[in-house]
Amino acid sequence: MNIQDDKKKFVREKFSSISGDYDFLNSLLSLNVDRYWRWITTRMLSEYQDGTVLDLCAGTLPLSLELTRQAPKRQVLAIDFCEDMLLAGLKTMPADERKQRIMPVCGDGEKIPARSDSCWGITVAFGVRNLANTQDGLNEMYRVLKKDGKLLILEFSRPQNPIMKPLYNFYLNKVLPKLAGLVSGDKEAYEYLASSIAKFYEPSELLGMMEKAGFTKPWRRPLTFGIVTIYVGEK
Ligand SMILES: C[S@@+](CC[C@H](N)C(=O)[O-])C[C@H]1O[C@@H](n2cnc3c(N)ncnc32)[C@H](O)[C@@H]1O
Repeated sequence: MNIQDDKKKFVREKFSSISGDYDFLNSLLSLNVDRYWRWITTRMLSEYQDGTVLDLCAGTLPLSLELTRQAPKRQVLAIDFCEDMLLAGLKTMPADERKQRIMPVCGDGEKIPARSDSCWGITVAFGVRNLANTQDGLNEMYRVLKKDGKLLILEFSRPQNPIMKPLYNFYLNKVLPKLAGLVSGDKEAYEYLASSIAKFYEPSELLGMMEKAGFTKPWRRPLTFGIVTIYVGEK
C-alpha cells in the first residue's frame, strides 16, 4: 500500500466512525453556520435548474438535499467512498419527494464513476481537502463536467484577520477536538480535521491546480472572515 492508499483508508475509517454523529456535530461546532455556507454555495449554481449535478464527497447528503430543495427539477448524483456516511444520510433524510431525485453512489472522487461531460454542475463541500491526490480529483471533475458547466468547491481556509486568526486557531486546535471527541468518541477524527486544515493548500495554489486541470479563469469567494472559501471553476 502506498501513502495515498494509506490516506484513503484512514479517511474512510475516520468518517465511518463518526458517521452517526456527523450532522449533529457539524451544527454544534459551527453553530449552524455550515447551513448558510451550503445554502450560498447552492445559490451560486442557480442558473442550472434542471439536469444532473454531481455532489462529490457527498457524505451524509446535506448539500445534496439543499441542491434538490433550491431546484425542484434538479437530479443529484451523490458520490462518496464511505458507505456509512451515505447510509447515515439516507437514514435521516426527510421523507419527501427529494429522495427520488438524489442518487447515492459509493465511489472514489479520484476515479469518478460517471461519464465524461455528463453533469452541468459539480459541488464538493469539505471534501477536496480529504482527497489523497487533489490534482487527480480536480482532473476527474473537469472530465465529468459538461462544457459551460460550473464547479463549486466549498472548503475550509485559514482566516488572515489578526484578531480572528488566533481565536480561530485556539478553537480549532484546543476546543473542537475535545468537544467533538466527547460527543463522537473519536478525538483523533477531529484532530485530523484541524491538521488537515492547517496543511491544506493556500487559496492561490488551489486556484492554480484548478487551472491546470483545465478550468477557465477560476476565482474564489471567501466567507465568514475567510474561515471557508468557495472556489469557482467553469469549463
Ligand atoms: C467532511 S465530509 C463532507 C460531507 C458533505 N459534503 C458535507 O457537506 O458535510 C468529507 C467526505 O468526503 C469523503 N471522501 C474523502 N475522500 C474521498 C474520495 N477519495 N472519494 C469519495 N469520497 C471521499 C468522506 O468519506 C466524507 O464523507
